[in-house]
Order: sequence, then structure tokens, then C-alpha cells
Amino acid sequence: MIIKNAYAKINIGLRILRKRPDGYHDLETVFHRVNVKDELKFEEAKLVTVNSSHPHLPNERYNLCARAAMLYKRHFGVKKGVSISLKKNIPIGAGLGGGSADAAATLLAINELWNQNYSAEELLPLAATLGSDIPFFLKNESAYATGRGEELLYFKLDIPYWIVVVYPNVHVSTPWAYSQLKVNSEKLKVGLNNILLQHINEPKSWSQTIQNDFEENVFAHHPFIAEVKLNLIESGAVFAQMSGSGSSVYGMFYEEETAKRVVEEMKVNFPVFLTPPNFHPEN
Ligand code: C5P
Repeated sequence: MIIKNAYAKINIGLRILRKRPDGYHDLETVFHRVNVKDELKFEEAKLVTVNSSHPHLPNERYNLCARAAMLYKRHFGVKKGVSISLKKNIPIGAGLGGGSADAAATLLAINELWNQNYSAEELLPLAATLGSDIPFFLKNESAYATGRGEELLYFKLDIPYWIVVVYPNVHVSTPWAYSQLKVNSEKLKVGLNNILLQHINEPKSWSQTIQNDFEENVFAHHPFIAEVKLNLIESGAVFAQMSGSGSSVYGMFYEEETAKRVVEEMKVNFPVFLTPPNFHPEN
């Protein structure tokens, strides 16, 4: 049996650069892991099956873990099965990459379970076929992502702040969020990774340079998410932003005491996750 922890991500900055002829969007973002994880167990079996703790996950045919395993079998010509059990802790439709983290964990786990030794680089095309965010989750470091999210430059990013992630109990569909964007002109990359590293000690300046292009439209349809963000800033966050296409919002705090107080206040109404400074998921 193989056990994997699939950690969620946040996006620090997300710039939509252009709409592509294939319907996807070129973007620029920084992916960074936070302290909330799905727990997966993999056992050899005759067929590919998924059991989930979550009542509303898509049924097996559409579950991303099952699709990942089926794609792997087809692609590498493996005639084996796997029984997957998935304990969901990462909220769905939250902009935290939960489904993507699970799919990447599945590719890595069956690679071991079925005694295949494909590298993360060899698994990347499969991951990208399953979803734009999935390649990032094949490695544990933070990454600067371009293209549709699958062109990755991993780099060491220590965030020296407490991060409070709040899920405002709103489900935002990613295709819907993209369909709401009005992309009139092409934008050039600004190098969000370098901006972050150069200004890591001045988080109050980030709101000028590090923006999430989904916020405007998503906030217009769900003003409540904007309220949660404002609440984090009023509670002392030095930087706050929506993650991905939403709906989760995170705040960064200098002080443990303030961050923990915000968690206590918020958790009455919402799922909240606290990440300590310089957090990196274990391997
Ligand atoms: O790749 P994934 O399946 O996660 O994407 C879901 C949807 O989000 C796509 O069908 C597309 O509408 C949109 N998308 C996009 N540009 C990206 C990523 C996703 O337009 N870079």
C-alpha cells in the first residue's frame, strides 16, 4: 500500500496574458503550497476504483484520480488496477487545486505501486492532459508558472508570514470564471517570481504589483468573497488575495497571535486553514 498526502496550493498573483486560439488562456502565476491536505491510499487491485469521503465528488467515471489512473494505463500500456481511497480535506471549487493535487498524487503513487519508474518530467504530459494545474503538483516546491499553467520554473520560496486561508463557502467554477474575463489586449509577463523574491520583506507593497485578474469579475458576482478579503485586511493581514479563480481568500500576517485570533473568529463560519511561516510540505 502507498500513502500520499496531497497538499493544496495558493496562487500569489495571477495575471491573464492573452486568450489563445485553442480557447485556453496564457497566464503568469506563482503556485505555493499551504497547510491543508487530502489523504490518499493506493492498493493494487484488479480494476481502477475510487472511494471518497466526500459525498459530492463526481462519480468514478469522472473522478480525476480515476481518470489519471486510466490515462496512465493507456499511455504506458500497463495492465493493472488500483483501489484508491481519498479522504478530502481540501474544499472543492475553492481555487486551492484540491482535485489537481489528488490527480498528481495518483500519477506518482501508481508509478511506484506498479513498479514503473517514470520521472516527473515523463509524467508531465499526462498531467497536463488531465488539467492545466496538475503538472505543478508533481513536485513539492513552489513554482513560477506560465503557458496555461504547465510551463514551470520551480524555485525556493520561503514565505516568512503566517498564512490564513478562508473558504467562503462559495463554489466557483473555473471554466465559468475564465468565461467572465474580458481579455482585450495582450499583456507582457512581469516576472512575478522575481518581484516576490525581491520584495519578500515588504508584503504591504505587494498589492501594487501582485494582482489576481479574476478578482474583479468574481467579486462582482460574489460580493461576499470581497467582504471576506476586506475582513482579513481589517483584521491585520499585510497582504490578502483570492486564490486562483476563487473562492478561497488568504491573508498573510506578521504575528502568530493575530493569525490565530483571525482563525478563531473565522472558523465559526467558514473552513479556515493556518499555515506557519516558511512552510514546505514533507516529501
Ligand atoms: O485545464 P483545466 O481543465 O483545469 O481547465 C478548465 C477550464 O478552464 C478550461 O476548459 C478553460 O476554459 C479554462 N482555462 C483557460 N486557461 C487556462 C486554464 C484553464 O482558459 N490556462
